[in-house]
Parts: sequence; structure tokens; C-alpha cells
Amino acid sequence: MAETRLLDDYRPWPFRIAETRLDVTLAPRGTVVRSEIALERSGPGPLVMDGGAGLRTRAVTIDGRPVDPAHLTIAAESLTVAEAALPDRPFAFAAEVEIDPADNTALEGLYLSGGMFCTQCEAEGFRHITWYPDRPDVMAPFRVVVRSDLPVLLSNGNPVAQGRGWAEWHDPWPKPAYLFALVAGDLRALADRFTTMSGREVALNIWVRPGDLDRAGFAMQALKASMVWDEQAYGREYDLDVFNIVAVDDFNMGAMENKGLNIFNSKLVLASPDTATDADYERIESVIAHEYFHNWTGNRITCRDWFQLCLKEGLTVYRDQQFTSDLRSAAVKRIEDVVALRARQFREDAGPLAHPPRPDRYEEINNFYTATVYEKGAEVIGMLRRLVGEDGWRAGMELYFTRHDGQACTIEDWLRVFQDATGRDLAQFKRWYTDAGTPRLTMAEDWDEDAGRLTLRFAQTTAPTPGQPDKPPRVIPIALGLISPNGDEVLPTQMLEMTAAAQEFSFDNLGARPVVSLLRGFSAPVTVERTMSAADRALLLAHDSDPFARWQAGHDLALEALVAAAQGGDPDPAFSRALAGVLGDGTLDPAFVALVLRLPSEDEIAAGITARGAIPDPDRIHEARESLAETIARDHQPALAALYERMEPQGPYSPDAGPAGQRSLRLAALGLLSRLDGGERAQALWDAAPDMTQRMGALAALVRLDRAGTALAQMESQFADNRLVMDKFFTIQPIAAAPARAVAIARSLAARPDFDWKNPNRFRALIGAVTANPAAFHAADGSGYDFVAEWLMRLDPANPQTAARMMTAFETWPRHDATRRKAARDALERIAAMPLLSVNSAEMVRRILA
Ligand code: PHE
Ligand code: ZN
Repeated sequence: MAETRLLDDYRPWPFRIAETRLDVTLAPRGTVVRSEIALERSGPGPLVMDGGAGLRTRAVTIDGRPVDPAHLTIAAESLTVAEAALPDRPFAFAAEVEIDPADNTALEGLYLSGGMFCTQCEAEGFRHITWYPDRPDVMAPFRVVVRSDLPVLLSNGNPVAQGRGWAEWHDPWPKPAYLFALVAGDLRALADRFTTMSGREVALNIWVRPGDLDRAGFAMQALKASMVWDEQAYGREYDLDVFNIVAVDDFNMGAMENKGLNIFNSKLVLASPDTATDADYERIESVIAHEYFHNWTGNRITCRDWFQLCLKEGLTVYRDQQFTSDLRSAAVKRIEDVVALRARQFREDAGPLAHPPRPDRYEEINNFYTATVYEKGAEVIGMLRRLVGEDGWRAGMELYFTRHDGQACTIEDWLRVFQDATGRDLAQFKRWYTDAGTPRLTMAEDWDEDAGRLTLRFAQTTAPTPGQPDKPPRVIPIALGLISPNGDEVLPTQMLEMTAAAQEFSFDNLGARPVVSLLRGFSAPVTVERTMSAADRALLLAHDSDPFARWQAGHDLALEALVAAAQGGDPDPAFSRALAGVLGDGTLDPAFVALVLRLPSEDEIAAGITARGAIPDPDRIHEARESLAETIARDHQPALAALYERMEPQGPYSPDAGPAGQRSLRLAALGLLSRLDGGERAQALWDAAPDMTQRMGALAALVRLDRAGTALAQMESQFADNRLVMDKFFTIQPIAAAPARAVAIARSLAARPDFDWKNPNRFRALIGAVTANPAAFHAADGSGYDFVAEWLMRLDPANPQTAARMMTAFETWPRHDATRRKAARDALERIAAMPLLSVNSAEMVRRILA
């Protein structure tokens, strides 16, 4: 079993680095890395370096002299030079190692992707490149020479010099090893320039493979918008002469913020109207921003250790969310973020993998790049801002940047900044970082007709999570407003601060009993329970001035109806009835209407049933959802047909929020109408071959109706050479097909020669699609679990990181019936029993089954 790392075990490294020099001679099977690290002692102890199994060590010297073997210990994952062999004054440690990038299918450290050399060092990949203190609190300026025959040779920082077959780079900003990057390949740049607010000229390049150049323009636009935004919103300026982005096809994650040399999954760079959807464009824009924003929140100020990961990730997600709301629609962005948070983070928090945003133990840090660290981490920042107010937020951020620039920090440092800037005690607030689980907030109402007084009685509880049986109350910012029965707002948004387990708030001088618009803007990441009539929900859906609460009212109506129907009850017609007003209101943002029309996911319905103490049945949930969609289509056929026509965007394709919102409403209408017209509209839309967004909307409807044969054949012949489009081909079929057919479809897709499963995008496209079709994945006969487990077992030896991450699909197993639980457990135990199972997957299976 792997070693457990504990937050409490943190000890500083006993040396400082003045400079790190690397000289890398690239070759697919034998890359030689020469390192020279200028060190100075800052505490007692031997010199211990981290390294991975793949290092073939050829030489180790101190101040140019080979280390006496009696003082040198090279173990599987560490190299130790005894204290006796180290000078008292500053000295240089140098090593020469050989590594094998062609053999690196894990995509950590230095690897090859389609003939291009590239690196991924977060979190602990640098140790696969050479011996080094591979921990984020050891920071150094880097000087790097890259040698290769390939035409483009890149590393962090500024270019210093280059010649035939080599290039030298210098990064003056001290950084931890996880931000190191190196790229070499036959690449083309889309080049541009940016002048910062203080007049620094920055060369911008987006590096792609020769044929992809015409699809990099949008990413460049997003980069420039991000640079402007960070100056305006936070006064943060870029700090090097160049900013390079490289797109690679084989990448475990979305993208990486290496200093001055961001490396991106190509699907988050490349876009054109005929190959990418509106959702792809929006995601490219936000990830480009995210990685760029890391330059300050992550790079200039980094993490002391990996337990503090949410220090950089929560804050940077928060910043990219703000960026998107500023560029697009704040209301729509907030709703989308909450939908995603509930789908991934609430689900994580409610299951065996629950952990706090700042965990205090792990075996494999790569398993903690989670929705909790990222998305809940961002929600915690949003709450902090609500609690300290706008002035406090500004003062705190300013102090954070000035006080901690150049440092490796902790959550304690972060909170102290806001405590010092505002005088507010944040001890209770800190529980949001240290405690796992989603608080459940209940609200009961007392209406005193004679006094015109409404009293709200709140209570909060948080269920136990692994390792944390007791949950003290947290501070919860509750934003609410009051709406009169005729729809007027009688009390604008108030921010209540709940700090106790139970607490009351009263509102006086009310003429008539108002309806409470609760948790406006989703002011805290909690679940809400209250009794509320369908009529009151419909009133909020029609009148609430807060767009999030308004959407939530409709969503709750739909969820209630679906939860009841999936448990054999009568579906309540209230949701469909309330839609009449929404569909008929021409003043509403089409994107908002599309969100109201989007039914709760099957997974959310299952969670709702579980929360009511019952066992969800994935098949009945699927049927209930399909049947509600059909009811809505029948009830609103003319209005939907009119919207479908009216929402056709005019003019050339633009990914902006306006036209994208129109398309999303148009496709929502299409999805419903296709339940009545047999897919005629969808087929016509596909045949008209407009942008990829609409084609995928049409294709989803055709696949659901099992009449997509021709369309899929056309897609295949048109896009056989485009990996990103073919990923969509692999995803759409198992995800949109009837659950009974999905696994068989996926099996036949997996047998295709172009199912290049070692490519993480392709693997996720197909295997992830099965896990995203809940009634298929959770099929009672275990066929979904078996299929996914089979593939995770195949992937694990090649790429443990991606295999382990995808295992989270199983995290909802405990909520199901005995038959499904047994099938899931059997599948997981098969994985657990695999010889040579990776540390990554072993930790995941153990936690999921615990
Ligand atoms: N730090 C990256 C981000 O969030 C994510 C990442 C982690 C990428 C680990 C690769 C490996 O921006
Ligand atoms: Zn990040």
C-alpha cells in the first residue's frame, strides 16, 4: 500500500536554490538531462532529491566532483547526499540522467505526442525528468538549454539565444518545478502582440501543428481579452516578454499554467464554426483565461504544499467565472456554474469520495484535482467576498498580492490577509476549507397575519463524511428577498449571516404574506429544504427579480415532478403549465429560457430520491424524464415550433453570448419537438449543415430516435481526419442512445481501429459517454459497470492518472439497490485485484469501496 501523506507532516526543505540550470538533449528513446542546481543551506539535514523510476542516473556531482558512493544513496524515488559530503558554503549539485520519453504513456514528465516533445509537471511530474526537490515551496529562477533537430524549441520565460539545433531560455521569476515546461516540435505560431498597462510589449504565440493554424484565432482573441481583464479587474499585469501557448493532442487534463509557456489540450485551443460548438468556444475562452490568470494566482503566488491546492485553483476558477460573467451573461453563467457544481461537486460531497477543499491526507495527489478543490474552492471564495463586502474584498486581494508575491502560501495565509484587511474574524469561516460535506439548510416559515411579521427559522446540518463524523455549524451567507403575492418585490436582497445550528430572522411591516426568494445568486453551496407550494414556485418563476432564484423555482418544480414520477407517483402538471409564461415572454434572454427548459439530469433526480430516503431506479428515472419531455412538447407544440424558427441566428456564425443563446434555445425546442415530429426537423437541420453547434443538436435528436445512420456516416467521411470532431462522433452515440442499446453501441465503437484508447480525449469521449448515460451505466445486469471496469483495467497500466480520475463514475454506487450494488462492487473488486494496479487507482477503489 502506498504511503499516506499528511498535512501535519509538512517540514521546510533545508536548502534554498539560487538558480536551476538544465541542458536537455532530446531524443525519443534517450533524452539526456544535465542539471546544475545552485544551493545554499537554510536548515540541518542531508540533501534529499525526488526522482522517479525512469531516471537512468549517469553522474552526480557536488561542485563538479563526483559524490563519494559512501555518501550517496539512490533509492527508487529519492537520491540522498549525506550531510558529511556537503560544503558549508553555497554549492552546486549536478546530475546527468537519461530518460525515455517515447515510453511515457502516463503523460507525466517529458513525453511524446504526435512527434512533438512536451512536458507535464504538475503535480509531481518533474521528478520523472531529473532529480530535484519536486515540491511547490522550493522556488528558483531557471535557465534552460533545449537541444533538438526539431524546428521549434520552447521553455519557460524569455528567449535568450538560439542556434542550429538549440535554444536557450531564461525565466527570471522564481518558480517551483511543477511550473517547468519544455516543448519541441514542428509547430506553427499564430502570432500577435499585447501592450500591458505599464507599456510592456509582449509577444503572444499560439503554437499548433501546421494544419491547425486556421483554428487558433479564437484562442488568441480570448488570451488578449484575459490580459485586459486581469489588468482592469485586479490590476495584474503580465511580467515576461513572451507568452506562449502550445496545443497538444495527448493531455491528461484541460490545460496547464506553466510560467510563460501554457500547454493546452488541443480541444481547448482549436475551434472553427464547422468543427466546434458554442459550448466548446465558451470553454476555450474560460480555460485560456483560467491558465492566464494563474500567472498571478498560482505562479507569482504559489502553494506551500499540495494540500493547499485550492489556494490557487479555487481562486483561479473564481476569477475565470467572473471573467466569463463579465464577457457574457452573468445570470446565465451563474446558473450554468451551479448546475455543474451540483452535478459534480455535490455528488462527490455526498458519496465515499467526499473530502474538504483543503484535504489533510492523500496517497496520490493527482486524485485530488477534484470538483471539490476546484469548484467548491471557487464557491468558498464567492462566500468570502459576500461576507467581507466589496471594499473588504478589494482591500484583501490587494494585500494578498503585495504581501505574498513571490511566496508559497497556505490557506491560513490567505485567510489572514482578509482578517488583517477587514478586521473580521474568519475562524468559523475556515471550516469551509477544512470540513467536507454539503450543509443541508432547512427553512420553516411563521406568518403572523395580525403583526404583518414573517419569521424564518433556519437550521443547518451536515451529514458525516469519511473521517469526519461531527460537523460543527458553519457561517452561511443567505441572500434572500421577499416577493408579494402579486409578484412585486417587497424586500430587495438581504444578506443574512447564519452562524449557529439553528437561527431565526424576522421581517416586519409586511402587508400580505410574501413568498421568500431564498438563496439568491446561490449565495452558499448548500442544499435547501423547505415546503413550498407549486403555486408559489410558479410565482417566483414568473416574477423573481433574481435570475438565479427565478431559474431555481422552475427547476424545483421540474425536479419535484420528476422525483414523484420516478417513484411511481402522478406527475404534477405545474412545471409544464408554468412554462407557458416563460415561453411567451419575449423579454427573456433566450439562453435563460433554454436553461429553464433543460430538465434536471437523471443523476440529479436520483440524488433527489436518495435525499428523500428512497432508492432510485435508474430506468424509471430515465422514463420519467423522457415522458415529461414529451408532455412539455405536447403542451407547448406551437410555441416551441415558433421559437425553433425565430431563434435561427442570422448572419455568419459568431460564438458570442447573444447568438449562442439563441442557438441553445433553438436546440432545446428542437429536442422537444423531435419527440413529436419523428425527427423531421432534426434531419432537415442536419442536412442544411449549418455550424457544428446546430449539427450536434440535430445529431443528438437523431441518435435518440435511432435514425442517425446516414448522418453518422456523413460525419465520419467528412471529419475522419479531425480528431476533435471524431471525439464527438464517439461520444454522441452512447450518450444519446436509448439506455438499453448504449453499451452495445459503445462496445462496437471500441472495436474500431480509430478508437485510439491511449489518447485521453478519445478514451474519455467513448468510455466517459457510457458513464454519462446513467440508465446504461447503472444497468441492473451490470453490463455498464463491466464495460467501464474492463476499460479502466486496460488503461490503468498505461495511464494511471486518467484511469483513476474516471473511476469517480462509480462514486454513486452506495445509493442503489442490492443488485446494482453487488454488480458495482464486483466490478470494483476486479479492478482492486488487478496485479500491479497503480497507486492512483488503488487509492480510488479503496476509498470508493470503504
Ligand atoms: N493546474 C491545471 C489547471 O487547473 C490543471 C492540471 C493539473 C493540469 C495537473 C495538468 C496536470 O489549470
Ligand atoms: Zn487551474
